[in-house]
Amino acid sequence: MSELKKIKDEFLLKLKEKLSLLEINQIKTDLFGKNGLISSQFKKIGTLDETERKKFASDLNVIKDELQNLINLKISEIEKAKINQKLEQEKIDITLPERPFVRGKIHPVSQTIDQISSIFSEIGFSVEEGPDVENEHNNFTALNTPDNHPARDMHDTFYLDQNKETLLRTHTSPVQIRTMSKDKPPFKIIAPGRTYRSDSDQTHSPMFHQVEGLHIDKDINMGHLKGCLSYFIKEFFEVKKIKMRFRPSHFPFTEPSAEVDIGYEIKDGKIIIGEGNRWLEILGCGMVHPNVLKNVKVDPTKFQGYAFGIGIDRLAMLKYGINDLRAFFDCDYRWLNHFGFDPLDVPTNYRGLSR
Ligand code: PHE
Repeated sequence: MSELKKIKDEFLLKLKEKLSLLEINQIKTDLFGKNGLISSQFKKIGTLDETERKKFASDLNVIKDELQNLINLKISEIEKAKINQKLEQEKIDITLPERPFVRGKIHPVSQTIDQISSIFSEIGFSVEEGPDVENEHNNFTALNTPDNHPARDMHDTFYLDQNKETLLRTHTSPVQIRTMSKDKPPFKIIAPGRTYRSDSDQTHSPMFHQVEGLHIDKDINMGHLKGCLSYFIKEFFEVKKIKMRFRPSHFPFTEPSAEVDIGYEIKDGKIIIGEGNRWLEILGCGMVHPNVLKNVKVDPTKFQGYAFGIGIDRLAMLKYGINDLRAFFDCDYRWLNHFGFDPLDVPTNYRGLSR
């Protein structure tokens, strides 16, 4: 047997075995390395005579290709097996049950805003919005509250500049101004949103929520205001009767003005709405002052109407028996989980407001 055939047979046999990458690389060096078996055979070519040389060289090349191909095949097989093994380990079993995931809850204040919007939309109010950062004109001056007016202290205002020109709105009433300035009467809108005053205790928070109401038309009077509010309160608390009182009050932008309280009692540390002999102030209201109408270029001899501003957080406290306002804004997940609402439980008039 020729030497070439011996090498070939020996290595074909070796390459049939199960080999590691390291072992194959060793074989590769043994054959094709600087002093490898095949490499040394190539060096021999020059020593042979012409007749032998041609055949030997051609045989050697055939064997070299055969062994090299076999080695490459082996290497790619090993690499493929490695990838498959990795894929196998990283496989995700999509038939496994999902991890029990915790569903988010809707904050009671958000739910209350949706309920309020739904109730007022039923009697023809549309929803307007205004920015939290207001200018002094919309928040005070245009609302008949000039620079030196004592009512400017009533609202402990967060001013945003030295000149007291920009501020965090102290009520939603500036949306009255924004709405009336950009359109022509009649107006019938509500405007829910965040409001800010420098105040903090069990029933006051520096950031709180109000909903403004405004109805301006030709013959709107105090009777309409009372009718609208008592309709709203009953719908909101889902009762036929509610204890409610109108107290004469004063706001620079309404004349006459009133504040509305609703009756409640505390049982086992929880607020119960209905009878009882305690009162909680929930809103301010009145007939829009002629000066306000003039400021937005509405003729007060032709148009008049009412406005109100309801404290949303307090309504939510009463409805859901929450007795500390501050809990609303603590971001305590357990609290939210208890008092929050199902995201799919959207209040609508036809489906009802509550669960
Ligand atoms: N803006 C008043 C407040 O925040 C409430 C109010 C609104 C009163 C509209 C009258 C009319 O106290």
